[in-house]
Formats: sequence, structure tokens, C-alpha cells
Amino acid sequence: MIAIANDHSALSMKKEIISVLEEMGLEYKDFGTYTDASCPYPVFGARAAHAVASGECDRGILICGTGIGIGLAANKVKGIRCALCNDPLSARLCREHNNANMISLGARIIGPELAKEIVRVFLTTEALGGRHAERVAMLTALENGEEIE
Ligand code: RB5
Repeated sequence: MIAIANDHSALSMKKEIISVLEEMGLEYKDFGTYTDASCPYPVFGARAAHAVASGECDRGILICGTGIGIGLAANKVKGIRCALCNDPLSARLCREHNNANMISLGARIIGPELAKEIVRVFLTTEALGGRHAERVAMLTALENGEEIE
């Protein structure tokens, strides 16, 4: 199950991304917003992030104007590693190296075809493990208030 959420700046891009999820045969849960009325991106980013952190959803996709604000909101939720990805290489490497469980995209930064390719890469790339997994474990330790060296 894929979580998807957006603010008012990204309604049409969300529809494009949902078409990719449907092509890929993936189930998704749309956490809004559902209209183009101005709204606060942290609310919608947090709703999707809580669904990923709780295990209700496996991964999440967030979209706001830049991808920055909604991703920052998601990263405040324990267990979330949300990467800002406005290019496919970042989408691949955030999975391989950082085991990102969410990505954020900027509807005012990139076009719909690029966004769709980024989503395909994010959803089809696995984490590499090994030394990368050790570094991801350090991120979790930091999140838990532990010292790392
Ligand atoms: C909304 O105007 C805009 O601030 C938002 O979409 C996003 O770009 C914030 O980071």
C-alpha cells in the first residue's frame, strides 16, 4: 500500500502520479488534499507519514510546490526517512543508500513526466544493505537520542 499526499499546489501532479500507481498495479491511499483551496502542507505530509511509520502503508509519496515543506514535515515523524527527489538518480540512490521510505517532489520545480519516472524508480529500487544499512541504523539511533560515532 502506497501513501500519497499533497498540498493545493500539486493536485494535478498527484493525479499523474496516481496513474503510475495504477499502471503498476499498486494499491494506494490518498491522504489529500482533495481541492485546490490553499492548505497547510504539514497537515497532509504528517497524515501520510504516520501511515508509513505505523506500517499501514509501505512507502509514501508527497508533493508540494517545491517538495521541501511537505518532506520536512514527514521527517519530523519517527521512523520516516523522506528524501526530496526532483531527479531519477536521487530516487534510485535514496532507496539504495538511505532506504528512504518516502519521497517528496516539487510540482513547481519539475514536470509530470519527470515526476512519473522518479516515482517508478523509487518504487522499483531496493535498499543495498551492508555498510549502507549500518549508516541508516545510525540515523535511527540519532532519532532515538543516542550518541553516534
Ligand atoms: C505553498 O504555497 C508552498 O509554500 C508549498 O507548496 C511548498 O512549496 C512548501 O514548501
